Amino acid sequence: MWRLLCRKAPCGSVLHMVRAGYGGESGAALLTTPIFYVNAAPHLGHVYSALLADVQHRYSALCGRDTRLSTGTDEHGIKVQQTATALGLDPSNLCAAVSQQFRKMFDTMGISYTDFVRTTEVRHSQAVCHFWKKLEERGYIYKGTYQGWYCTSDEAFLSEEQTMESRDGEGNIFRVSAESGHQVHWMSEENYMFRLSHLRSELLSWLQTEPIYPAPFLRIVQQWLEEDLPDLSVSRQRSRVSWGIPVPSDSSHTIYVWLDALINYLTVAGFPDQNLATWGPSTHLLGKDILRFHAVYWPAFLIAAGLPPPKKLLVHSHWTCNGVKMSKSLQNVVDPMECIRRYTRDGLRYFLLRHGAPERDCDFTHHIACKLLNSELADALGGLLNRCTAHTINPEQCWPHYQCTSVPPSSQNDLNRLLGTVKELPGLVDQYMDRFQANKALEAIDSSVRCSNAFFQSQAPWKLYKGGDDAKAWGQSVLYLTLESLRLYATLLQPAVPGLAKTILDRLRVPNVSRTLKGNRFFVATSGDKCDFQGRTLGSECGLLYRRLEVEQK
Ligand code: ME8
Ligand code: MG
Repeated sequence: MWRLLCRKAPCGSVLHMVRAGYGGESGAALLTTPIFYVNAAPHLGHVYSALLADVQHRYSALCGRDTRLSTGTDEHGIKVQQTATALGLDPSNLCAAVSQQFRKMFDTMGISYTDFVRTTEVRHSQAVCHFWKKLEERGYIYKGTYQGWYCTSDEAFLSEEQTMESRDGEGNIFRVSAESGHQVHWMSEENYMFRLSHLRSELLSWLQTEPIYPAPFLRIVQQWLEEDLPDLSVSRQRSRVSWGIPVPSDSSHTIYVWLDALINYLTVAGFPDQNLATWGPSTHLLGKDILRFHAVYWPAFLIAAGLPPPKKLLVHSHWTCNGVKMSKSLQNVVDPMECIRRYTRDGLRYFLLRHGAPERDCDFTHHIACKLLNSELADALGGLLNRCTAHTINPEQCWPHYQCTSVPPSSQNDLNRLLGTVKELPGLVDQYMDRFQANKALEAIDSSVRCSNAFFQSQAPWKLYKGGDDAKAWGQSVLYLTLESLRLYATLLQPAVPGLAKTILDRLRVPNVSRTLKGNRFFVATSGDKCDFQGRTLGSECGLLYRRLEVEQK
């Protein structure tokens, strides 16, 4: 499908640009998170976005691919301006303080970002001004009057159909955004407008490359493009919104905060200094609340500026509290720091990645978190580590030898089942990661862990050790197979739980160079090849892998 589209695409068309942008693959691929508003402290939802991006980024690195991960803070606009005023702070002080909180939170969570961008940085305003001029030169900007609704909380211009009536506790009627539920206000202003309406067919061709995951979000965007696509206001009068980047040719206007914010992705790519080759292939990860901005406005801006639209948008759903979206404006947020204290950093990472699902909203409860972490990290994974490294079962503290000839006929089926599962696992994980389904990848790993535990229990090597030479040889082989499965699981788990995976790999004494997926082979001894680990001693003891949590009641 992709090849076909590319072949047919005439030079200068959107598809031609997409291909040109991605064909080169010369530089490192760019993966981005949204940049977060600095009107309040980071909450669990923000951490989730950063974490999903981090796990994709770490997985790519594990496969030997060169990628960059950027994140940052979105610091301009009326919302930040109003928050600063309400707190009696200078906006730049508010921005510096909250931006620092985000950075610290991401560091604490182990987010492996390679760039952290702030929209108040000089490099960013240079990129924005350059981009604006490009849009102007190419005839996409004109002056007009915008009349309609504005939602400050979402920093969004909305049509009548995108709003609805709502009532507060006292029966007062007001209008809200139909999508977010946040209040909207009527405005009428002379603004600079962007010719979004001219770009429908280009956007439709871009959608044909199926750039949006998971697929239901692609369909939503397709539907939007069948509706009205009015031109977009891209500036506000400076008298109303002063906290922002001035329009280069007219300082009585401030550039619309969403145009400003989206360009951060170009800023981190080195725009405008670097040549176009550095832009693309770009992959943007975002919450579904900002889908329209990324799937309609952003590709339209890029196409209008003569740049290739994004390669991929990875969209995730929301964490809710009792069914209501967790958000700072609703004050129902979960504090990530408190979760880290309860579950540890890797415990929280594991729960969010494993229980969250990009395609549907998920409720956050401590009850479910405790149960899942106990079952999968403490019992299943911790149990497997304990089984093959405990002194009672492995008194020599080493990797034993595997003997192909030792398999008793009665164990052949169990062995085949185990080998079938573990040999399939890396490919399965790869498919899931490629489809932006880290939750499914972790589920597959967990079910393999359980399979290894079951195999160990059914073969009962501690009994085999008491038997004759053949039984002993099979007992050693079972231990080898269990250690080898654990080496595979820990290798695959590094992107999700880097700390726990390191504990296991250290205990198994796997050298750093052998912790990647590129060129790493598993279970070679079962096909008669030499496995370097056989006969090696284990690393030093690591204690309990993950302490069981006291399950919080519902
Ligand atoms: O929208 N569950 O910033 P923002 C999951 N500055 N993820 C959530 C979430 C929840 N309950 N709440 C927030 C903005 N998020 C703009 C973005 S990008 C050029 C500009 C995550 O601070 C999710 O990724 O409101 C969502 O899209 C993002 O935080 C919005 O963060
Ligand atoms: Mg928001």
